[in-house]
Amino acid sequence: MVVHLLGWLAAFWAGGASVTYSHDVAAILYRNCASCHRPGGVAPFSLLTYQETAKRAGLIAAVSSKRSMPPWLPVAPHFQEERRLSDAEIATVTRWAAEGAPEGNSAATPAPPHFPEGWQLGPPDLEAQMPAAYDVPADGPDQYRCFVLPSQIPRDRWVRAVDMRPGNSRVVHHALLFQDITGSARQRDTGSGYECFGTPGFLPARGLGGWTPGSLPFRAPDDIPILLHAAADLVLQVHYHPSGKPETDRTAMALYFTDRKPTRHALDIPLGSSRIDIPAGDAIYKVTDHFTIPVAVDAIGINPHAHYICKDMLGYAALPNGTRRILIHIPDWNFSWQQEYLYAAPVRLPAGTDVVMEFTYDNSDANPRNPNHPPKRVLWGPSTTDEMAGLHIAVVPVHTDDEDDLAAALWGKMIRATGGGGLRK
Ligand code: HEC
Repeated sequence: MVVHLLGWLAAFWAGGASVTYSHDVAAILYRNCASCHRPGGVAPFSLLTYQETAKRAGLIAAVSSKRSMPPWLPVAPHFQEERRLSDAEIATVTRWAAEGAPEGNSAATPAPPHFPEGWQLGPPDLEAQMPAAYDVPADGPDQYRCFVLPSQIPRDRWVRAVDMRPGNSRVVHHALLFQDITGSARQRDTGSGYECFGTPGFLPARGLGGWTPGSLPFRAPDDIPILLHAAADLVLQVHYHPSGKPETDRTAMALYFTDRKPTRHALDIPLGSSRIDIPAGDAIYKVTDHFTIPVAVDAIGINPHAHYICKDMLGYAALPNGTRRILIHIPDWNFSWQQEYLYAAPVRLPAGTDVVMEFTYDNSDANPRNPNHPPKRVLWGPSTTDEMAGLHIAVVPVHTDDEDDLAAALWGKMIRATGGGGLRK
């Protein structure tokens, strides 16, 4: 009898401390997964209910502990809107799966999150949409398409925030907004957009933020709104991933203006190289570049770019005192999840800091993302079968008087990079 009672007590305590869906797991999945794993979301299945979750418990535990979900590429440093499970959250999910994915008290399951349909920041100052719906076939390769948005910008404006709404989140993988002051996008877009893998196909390609599944609207720092030129064309670049059924998409975007002129300016330090020639089979091909910043700056954001066979992306700052700060490290690059990263806190870089990029490409058969089997020689270029190497660091000079010196040094770097003969970046 006593033995029975003890056994029952042990079971009771183990049960009491056990992990359940309603008490522990639902909240973790709502917070970290639901933005994509919901009806109409970009992920292939929903994870909003116990039934949907329990039947995939093993897989969920596996992707969580491998950290392949939620998708988040940088391992360092800390950025805003980081999508990473904590070690404790991973332990909870893993234990729940191992114990047979119990539901617990279903009445106590928290309410699933609500995803607002309208613009999150309220009525925008300028709203525009793709001029017509675009047909995405049921299958075939991913498409990268640029659309000139019908919009009238009669005078220069300062942009404080940008939001985007995919027309069809089953096929829109990500979207980027640019302004074109050259008129060339308008010439190429004959009504249903034009193909534009990698870059939007004009220079300078001034970015105005982007949308990736689960992202919040882009907001410029209060004192650094972005200049939108009068008469510029707004160009939307959309990455489509066929869903298995024919689909249509008409993505929309919203701009929010401010009359407050910037008191400081962000400048782009473009590290990169067009000298790329990767032999077939080479598993460790490096592309490097660097720039010595002549004035003190705060780095506020960073945007790495390469195509499919880039493996490891490292950007760091070698400070004048000999220490090194990681600006970004992505050990397993995935073209599908590219985005700009904003630092959780600005990174102060004293005058004389050398910023360095080091990208490593794997053009061997062993690289599962290599589009060529057997591998082929890969050269620099804008199309899927080419490679690129770019690391853009957005910096703000600590002293506004220093802006011209920095701009002049960046101009010098650009001239050296192009050998004075045309812009090839
Ligand atoms: C930013 C969007 C996004 C978030 C956030 C996200 N997922 Fe996913 N998930 C996807 C997409 C898209 C796929 C389809 C495969 C792919 O493209 O990688 C996927 C696939 C999966 C798969 C199937 C993997 C396989 O090998 O079949 C599982 C399991 C999964 N996600 C679990 C999760 C869990 C658990 C979370 C939260 C801890 C999560 N995901 C967060 C977008 C997301």
